[in-house]
Amino acid sequence: MTEAKLEAWLDEKRVFPPSESFVANANAKPSIYDEAKADPEAWWRKQAERLVWDKKPTSTLEWDLPNAKWFSDGTLNASVNCVDRHVAEGRGDKVAYYWVADADGESRTITYSELQKLVAKTANALVELGVKKGDRVAIYMPMIPEAVIAMLAVVRLGAAHSVVFGGFSADALSSRILDSDCRFVITADGAFRRGAPSPLKSAVDEALQSCPDVKTVLVVRRTGGDVHWVEGRDYWWHDVVDRQSDQHTPEFFPAEHTLFLMYTSGTTAKPKGIFHTTAGYLTQCAATYHYIFDVKPETDVLWTAADIGWITGHSYIVYGPLVLGATQIMYEGLPDSGGRDRWWRIVEQFKATVLYTAPTTIRTLMKWGDELPKSHDLSSLRLLGTVGEPINPEAWMWYRENVGRNNCPIVDTWWQTETGAIMITPLPGITATKPGAAMTPFPGISADVVDNEGNSVGNGEGGYLVITAPWPSMTRGIYGDPARFKSTYWDRFPGMYFAGDGAKRDEDGDLWLLGRIDDVMNISGHRLSTTEVEHALVGHPAVAEAAVVGATDDTTGQAIVAFVTLKLSAEDATKDQSHLVEELRQHVARVISPIAKPRQIILTPDLPKTRSGKIMRRLLRDVAENRSLGDVTTLMDPTVVNMISGLMQNEGTSED
Ligand code: PRX
Repeated sequence: MTEAKLEAWLDEKRVFPPSESFVANANAKPSIYDEAKADPEAWWRKQAERLVWDKKPTSTLEWDLPNAKWFSDGTLNASVNCVDRHVAEGRGDKVAYYWVADADGESRTITYSELQKLVAKTANALVELGVKKGDRVAIYMPMIPEAVIAMLAVVRLGAAHSVVFGGFSADALSSRILDSDCRFVITADGAFRRGAPSPLKSAVDEALQSCPDVKTVLVVRRTGGDVHWVEGRDYWWHDVVDRQSDQHTPEFFPAEHTLFLMYTSGTTAKPKGIFHTTAGYLTQCAATYHYIFDVKPETDVLWTAADIGWITGHSYIVYGPLVLGATQIMYEGLPDSGGRDRWWRIVEQFKATVLYTAPTTIRTLMKWGDELPKSHDLSSLRLLGTVGEPINPEAWMWYRENVGRNNCPIVDTWWQTETGAIMITPLPGITATKPGAAMTPFPGISADVVDNEGNSVGNGEGGYLVITAPWPSMTRGIYGDPARFKSTYWDRFPGMYFAGDGAKRDEDGDLWLLGRIDDVMNISGHRLSTTEVEHALVGHPAVAEAAVVGATDDTTGQAIVAFVTLKLSAEDATKDQSHLVEELRQHVARVISPIAKPRQIILTPDLPKTRSGKIMRRLLRDVAENRSLGDVTTLMDPTVVNMISGLMQNEGTSED
């Protein structure tokens, strides 16, 4: 986001106070801010009472920067908290998920007692296959109920899952499997996308060629497509799970037992294995879901439209909602599977009350026009949420007017894979909302905006977002790399967690999140590092050097623009350049994921470098965003950047 754009937004000074009807019935009362501020540990202790414990904790926080322990002498089982306790408390017939397939008209309803049986059977199957407490299990699945069931079964045994987004390539999957030494993989034969099957297991087969320690693969039949089969390694889910007992006696684990790993892009080519532990994570997921989404488990049908391959799916499709016993919609398809009004038909059919999604999707739905939401009955909706990237006020207003019928509060929630749960957000019924602002830290969270030296900035000023006190769902580290954990997050500003985001406090002191200030890009709410994409590009035999930047994009928030110099081999010189550009885009898709495909690749004879040989990405970002160039005097050859600018103007863009 450019400064000028932000200034224009702030100038509009649009503020929406909480509506009267909401104030009267909201779960959150204004006093919770004061209560949490007066004694944050007591506040979180109270939130932890939402969990069922085998042994209740007597301790709250032990803090030895950067290592936190929350509720450490308590014991519990995450899957019991998500499932069994609801059945035991008489809510077994309540719907946990309305699962909606990619194909129009296909759905499945799963109650809490059905979920309990499915999780128990799967846990028994995993025991038979050799999964034990402390193991890591990779899950590479489409958005089908078995994905959630697998996650819950894994953690029920005290193993940790590492869910890898189904859109990631075989290479990306194998590097994640190797980094955390997963010995088991759970996957499906394929996935459906707009009615068409696409293979998934083949990527697992390819990935496992470099993962000799994976001895067991459990495969759900989803598409019925042909699959390559390795006898003794591969097992069909329906062969192994279906015949198991639907009873499983859980073991209880310490509060700080590892629950899961989730790989996310940092500023280097190697993704970080962020790991979370059990009780603190569950406590904050449930507390935030309860207050921010104002959950009324008896009447709400909540829809987090995200993939379980990302942290939003973990915290707000699986753990937070299930701890509360909520009823949810889980949707397999794309926003336009079966037509561009598919989402509105789902809202109408299941009478969704809460919708939570990413700004990119809102912008896409907005592009498809006002008529589609208008032609459906969306009156069941009472609250809307956004997550994953800054939301521009135009999209926020469209969401409010066309989806929320000017009647639903919008919660713009800021958080990260590392924070585990929402950190900065309005609370419906209490705080006002402003189009584009995440407003204020959640009760019990201490956030600040600081300058280069770590001093708080005043109202009306911008700086770096930091979190100044430990919180229950904070990551406990980067798997296998404590030094990187400390240096990435805790060394920049002593005593504070450095989020990597720019932020601004407006004149009222409310917080606006401005996006990453490091080399991390945010493409459609997906995090990717510039170095990761550069690394993929230079892995292609024709490429000598590559520099990648994230440029502002009207739909995807940011889009990848790559500047590439080629090796001067005879073969490349004769190649048709547009063919080569397409080949490079496909190459990146193969190495990382289709989401990492550059929007534009500019082939250039040279890159702008300082005299010490460092690529000036700042200038390339200016070029990519068509801005006037800043200071170029430190460049080794100032003409290079003008030449690239010229090349850029002549380029078309690719949008697939
Ligand atoms: O830059 C911020 C942006 O997404 C980053 C975290 O990405 P990830 O770990 O993939 O988690 C995304 C889902 C929680 C942050 O560093 N971000 C997330 N939410 C917002 C946001 N930027 C602005 N406003 C938000 N509400």
